[in-house]
Amino acid sequence: MSAEDSKKRAALEALTWLDDARVIGIGTGSTVNHFIDALKSIKGRLDGAVSSSEASAQRLKAIGIPVLDLNAAGELSVYVDGADEANHRLQLIKGGGGALTREKIVAAVSKQFICIVDDSKLVNVLGHFPLPVEVIPMARSYVARELVKLGGRPDWRSGFTTDNGNHILDVHGLTIPDPPALEAQINQITGVVSVGLFARRPADVLLVGHADRVEKIT
Ligand code: 5RP
Repeated sequence: MSAEDSKKRAALEALTWLDDARVIGIGTGSTVNHFIDALKSIKGRLDGAVSSSEASAQRLKAIGIPVLDLNAAGELSVYVDGADEANHRLQLIKGGGGALTREKIVAAVSKQFICIVDDSKLVNVLGHFPLPVEVIPMARSYVARELVKLGGRPDWRSGFTTDNGNHILDVHGLTIPDPPALEAQINQITGVVSVGLFARRPADVLLVGHADRVEKIT
């Protein structure tokens, strides 16, 4: 049984969490791609989706689900997205695919954030996965120096530009016992657009795909 099978199992389970939502928020990544593929079977029930990335928007359009502007959609009842790491408090590291800022925005406006992961993503302490930080390009070196002061080893994701036209620093070497505190601290650095810690607005439900079942953590 592969990690891909476990991702798919979690993604299929998320379908049962949509209730009667007609507009849903959609995240980014390979786990979410399984979810989008599964949406084909219920697309008649949906008026559309708000996407956290251009990549997911293309995939949604390809199966005939209208992609809506968040400003027009207003508050969302449910948002489904993956994560790079998750702890048992449902705090997350996200941004491996570089979509963290839009993901944070969609999570912020959603009543229920359903996070779907395979079991390799579940950890006791966040930080083994390099923490993505989206930065305004001219501030990249300054922000990197500030992150070094916090004990991290920032690495510029060279050649990558976010959907917002910004750069990403992947911060290695952090152990994060207090994710909300570090999230606030990094958000305060001038030039930071957003940090891939989702702790002040964690997930509401974590669906963890295992080889033979889906574990639900709330
Ligand atoms: C993208 C993300 C993704 O949710 C995260 O990288 C997980 O991706 P995958 O499902 O491919 O493992 O935060 O910015």
